[in-house]
Amino acid sequence: MTSAKDIGQHRDTSGLNIFANPNLSTSPTASFQSAPSSHGGSLFAGRTVPLPNAKHLKPFATEDIKVLLLENVNQTGRDILTGQGYQVEFLKSSLPEDQLIEKIRDVHVIGIRSKTKLTARVLKEARNLIVIGCFCIGTNQVDLQYAAAHGIAVFNSPFSNSRSVAELVISEIIALARQLGDRSMEMHAGTWNKVSTKCWEIRGKTLGIIGYGHIGAQLSVLAEAMGMSVIFYDVLNLMALGTAQQVPTLETLLAKSDFVTCHVPELPETKNMIGPQQFEQMKQGSYLINASRGSVVDISALIHAMRSGKIAGAALDVYPNEPAGNGDYFNDDLNTWGSDLRGLKNVILTPHIGGSTEEAQSAIGVEVAQALVRYVNEGTTLGAVNLPEVTLRSLTMDEPNHARVIYIHQNVPGVLRKVNEILGDHNVDKQMTDSRDDVAYLMADISDVDNSTIKDLYERLESLSSRVMTRILY
Ligand SMILES: NC(=O)c1ccc[n+]([C@@H]2O[C@H](COP(=O)([O-])OP(=O)(O)OC[C@H]3O[C@@H](n4cnc5c(N)ncnc54)[C@H](O)[C@@H]3O)[C@@H](O)[C@H]2O)c1
Repeated sequence: MTSAKDIGQHRDTSGLNIFANPNLSTSPTASFQSAPSSHGGSLFAGRTVPLPNAKHLKPFATEDIKVLLLENVNQTGRDILTGQGYQVEFLKSSLPEDQLIEKIRDVHVIGIRSKTKLTARVLKEARNLIVIGCFCIGTNQVDLQYAAAHGIAVFNSPFSNSRSVAELVISEIIALARQLGDRSMEMHAGTWNKVSTKCWEIRGKTLGIIGYGHIGAQLSVLAEAMGMSVIFYDVLNLMALGTAQQVPTLETLLAKSDFVTCHVPELPETKNMIGPQQFEQMKQGSYLINASRGSVVDISALIHAMRSGKIAGAALDVYPNEPAGNGDYFNDDLNTWGSDLRGLKNVILTPHIGGSTEEAQSAIGVEVAQALVRYVNEGTTLGAVNLPEVTLRSLTMDEPNHARVIYIHQNVPGVLRKVNEILGDHNVDKQMTDSRDDVAYLMADISDVDNSTIKDLYERLESLSSRVMTRILY
């Protein structure tokens, strides 16, 4: 029997990971899209699917691929990288800057989490580095602009924990409706307080979701399965899942919902999106949940609305100011309203744990490591946060004398003409190029090459003044 973990991925004899998927395409990009989408994310929300007889490409002008993994990257990610035959050095912690500089000089790939700061000063020393994997959500620990300007791709994992957040919110809807937090605290203090007044079933109640993206859409399905009616408000016009209904304005959502939950990104438009006026517009005795970003809810206004009895309960996972580490830091020095909030009844406070599960960590390991492997072996930038997203379908075993040219260059006029002059003696089977700000990424598969022509092409491309980085895979 195949265990759940094995489904969707197996290894062929060439050592290349194959991501089993029946939707194989023969289009030049051969990428597939995620479900019709609500997700407002990248155009290439799906991933490339290597063809069944995909050729395992080797980089020209690079020996073994050396990988440095810091900050105890999840085992799932480590396994994928070592499984590729890369030389992987794994460290449990981050490194002080001088040691980091020493180590980064040597490697082609580095995997970090949030503590390692890859500043311009550090990256300047990373002469062999082609790609950075952030095994986390955020990427502000990396100087993305410097990396892009030097042809170093950066990948992260923004959506691996969507399900974890949705499940937390479901648990909070029931916990608020039944005042579970308060009953539990009373029992811990030795008090038996058996009450049913203002305790409700959630069946038949209306859940209003603000922001119907990765998390909002997951939540919609789970809430309906428990008998709730779901409405949502989003700036995009989106396909509703199940029998959920999109409403035209935030005000409509607030007026109709028994439970309101926020799942929008942090943007100037979403700052204090739920403030005094919005609490006024909510139903008497309704509930508010925020597991998105701390800036979205005006917490002083929430405290006021709870004290007045308008809002019957709230669950918060995120705050305008959050401590950098664990400890007794959730006080009035951090946020002026700290003790007022802590003193309220039927308020569930959690320390930004919406996405913190073993499953999410493991999914992050897989997602980022697979993106790194695709980038190193195939040059595909799908999901990169600092380079244009470019992909071509895999070269196959039937194309033994073909090579893939990757030319990262300054986004200035005339480059494509010069590159195509250099590639001109070969049949260019497929080619794609795109730019992002000052950097452009060109990928071309060419036929009829041998070692000496690859060397010649490499040197000619490297000599162009627009060059940022040249890679040839064959
Ligand atoms: N608590 C946690 O641990 C945790 C974990 C993961 C994500 N998050 C946060 O959850 C939020 C949602 O994440 P996601 O992955 O679902 O994001 P997403 O990008 O998939 O979806 C966000 C949705 O909000 C919509 N939106 C944007 N601006 C809006 C506005 N002004 N009004 C209404 N809708 C608007 C977008 O169109 C999109 O559909 C983000 O803020 C993210 O940082 C928190």
